[in-house]
Amino acid sequence: MPPIVVGHRGVSGHFPENTKVSIVAAIELGLKWIEVDIQPSKDDVLVVCHDHTVNRCSNGIGRIDDLTFDQLRKLDFGAWYGSRFSGEVIMSLSELLALADTHKIGINIEIKIDRHNAAHVVALLKAQLESSRHDKERLIFSSFDHNVMRQLYQQLNGYKLGVLSRRLRKADQQLLNEIDAFSCHLNFRWTTKRHVEMLHKSGYQVWCYTVNSPKRLAHLSTLDAIFSDYPERFIHSALGRIG
Ligand code: G3P
Ligand code: MG
Repeated sequence: MPPIVVGHRGVSGHFPENTKVSIVAAIELGLKWIEVDIQPSKDDVLVVCHDHTVNRCSNGIGRIDDLTFDQLRKLDFGAWYGSRFSGEVIMSLSELLALADTHKIGINIEIKIDRHNAAHVVALLKAQLESSRHDKERLIFSSFDHNVMRQLYQQLNGYKLGVLSRRLRKADQQLLNEIDAFSCHLNFRWTTKRHVEMLHKSGYQVWCYTVNSPKRLAHLSTLDAIFSDYPERFIHSALGRIG
C-alpha cells in the first residue's frame, strides 16, 4: 500500500496554514487526510493555530491564550500569506470538525500546549467531541507532550492516538504501549528503515512529517502516511504512489 498523503496544516505550501481556505484546498485535491494544530483561546475555545502567538500568521500580536475567541476572530489570518487571502479568519475546532464531517475527510488533530494544563485542554476537547457525533475512524489525536497523550488515553474513549516525536526515543516506545497507540508520528529526517520495521512489528502505523519532495521518500517506502505542505507533488509524482 502506498503511503497516505496528509495535507500538513491543510495545503500550507500554497495557502495560509490551518485556515479554511487551506483545508478546502486539501479537500479539492482529493486528499483523504489533513493535519492541523489546536490550542485554547483565553475563554477556552479550541482554535486551529500552530504557534502559541498570533504574530507570525495574522495581523495581530499576542498569545492565543491571552485573547478571547471574539478578539482572535477580528484578526486577519490570511493577508500575511498573500493579499488574495485577506479576510481569512481563525477557525474554531468546532467549525473544522463540521467541515471535515461534511466532506468526510480525516483529521490528525495535534494538540499544542506549553504553559497550559494538559488535563484541562483535553477536557475541553472531550466536551467538544461529545457535543456532536464524529466518525472515530476519521480522527487521530497526537501531541509532542506526553502528558497530553496520557490525558487523551484516560479521557477519550475509542479514539486513535498517535505518539508524536522528532525522533524515536525509549520514552516514546514506552508511551506507545502505555496508551495503546494506533501510530507513531516522526520527523522523516531521523527515521530509519529499522525504526519503521520495528514499529510495524509491534503493531503501530508510522506517519512521517514533513516530506515535501518525493525523492526524499526513497528510503522510507514502507511508511503508512506522510505529512506534506505540497501534497500535489506526491499525487502527481511519476512514482504514482497515491491511490
Ligand atoms: O504532526 C506533525 C507535525 O505537524 C509536527 O510538527 O511543528 O509542524 O506541528 P509541527
Ligand atoms: Mg502540527
